[in-house]
Amino acid sequence: MISRDVFETCVTRAALAPTVHNTQPARWVRDENVLSLFCDTNVGLTVGDPTGRDAALSCGAVLEAMMLALSAHQISAEVTLTGKDTAPNQGLVAVAHLKLSDGTKDGLHAQLEHRFTWRAAFAPGPVKLFGWTRSDARFVMDEAGRTWLAERNDWASFQIMRQDGFRKELVNWMRLSDAHPRAGLDGMDRASMQMSATEARMAPFALVKFWRFLNAFGLTKGLVSEHNVTLTAPLIALFHADNSENPVASGRAYLRMCLEACSLGFAGWPMAALSDNLTTNAQVCERFGIAPDRRLVQVIRFGIPTGEATARARRPLSDVIR
Ligand SMILES: Cc1cc2nc3c(=O)[nH]c(=O)nc-3n(C[C@H](O)[C@H](O)[C@H](O)COP(=O)(O)O)c2cc1C
Repeated sequence: MISRDVFETCVTRAALAPTVHNTQPARWVRDENVLSLFCDTNVGLTVGDPTGRDAALSCGAVLEAMMLALSAHQISAEVTLTGKDTAPNQGLVAVAHLKLSDGTKDGLHAQLEHRFTWRAAFAPGPVKLFGWTRSDARFVMDEAGRTWLAERNDWASFQIMRQDGFRKELVNWMRLSDAHPRAGLDGMDRASMQMSATEARMAPFALVKFWRFLNAFGLTKGLVSEHNVTLTAPLIALFHADNSENPVASGRAYLRMCLEACSLGFAGWPMAALSDNLTTNAQVCERFGIAPDRRLVQVIRFGIPTGEATARARRPLSDVIR
């Protein structure tokens, strides 16, 4: 049986995986030689993720991080995915069971602590991939392709941000001051969003209270635009999966892609709007030749960050282990 110490170390490391809005829906139960992963759908995004696909993807990323963390202790696991629905507000939903056995170390585990989301300009100049490819991602590096994606991303983000409910939910997951009761525990803080103190103070007004007013004066598109910083990313990865693949399985592969990028010195910055918006999802698949039996799961900018990772907000173990 896995010792309590090793289990807690692995849960802590697994929690470093990326999750949508940093909601951290993954919960763990240990029963002898079996670890069970649950999705806490009560932290699900009712507007941003009504089907629970992003929650499942996030749990998949945590699951793969757990596999890597276990591998550091020469532990492997036979994974069974339940395929259960992870739509918001159904309490704890079992998503996977891991039957533990002896295993070997996977060196990618060392990247878990180094990966982070970088939401600002990337270092200029071309990057070296040292032959890195993936069969489930199309890497767009040419200027015409990146410019087109930057423009489509702004359009899709604006369509999504036009929804009052989406903006309210987003602001609810922002931790704009250190005094926020959940600062340091979950959600996205000011530093990780690269906001100045003034921008952080203004954010709830701009995104909720005065949005309609700003919109009437045509100021909201500029507020949402990421065009110029997107163009600094030398590589934009179009991550895709089989249409029928369980999103938890897609999340596992997604985490590996992010960690592989990290091992090349890259940080990532997702452009979820491009895959979430059905119009841009179809346009991206058509332009970049993603086959009809595959779906675009996530688009992510990669490059060398021009600053350090900010402190991570993560839930305490007492929240994550049940
Ligand atoms: C499914 C999914 C979608 C995400 N979409 C976005 C996005 O559109 N924009 C963004 O800035 N971050 C996005 N993120 C990144 C999360 O906000 C980030 O992982 C979380 O805040 C934790 O921060 P960390 O990655 O630095 O550990 C997404 C993450 C996941 C798993």
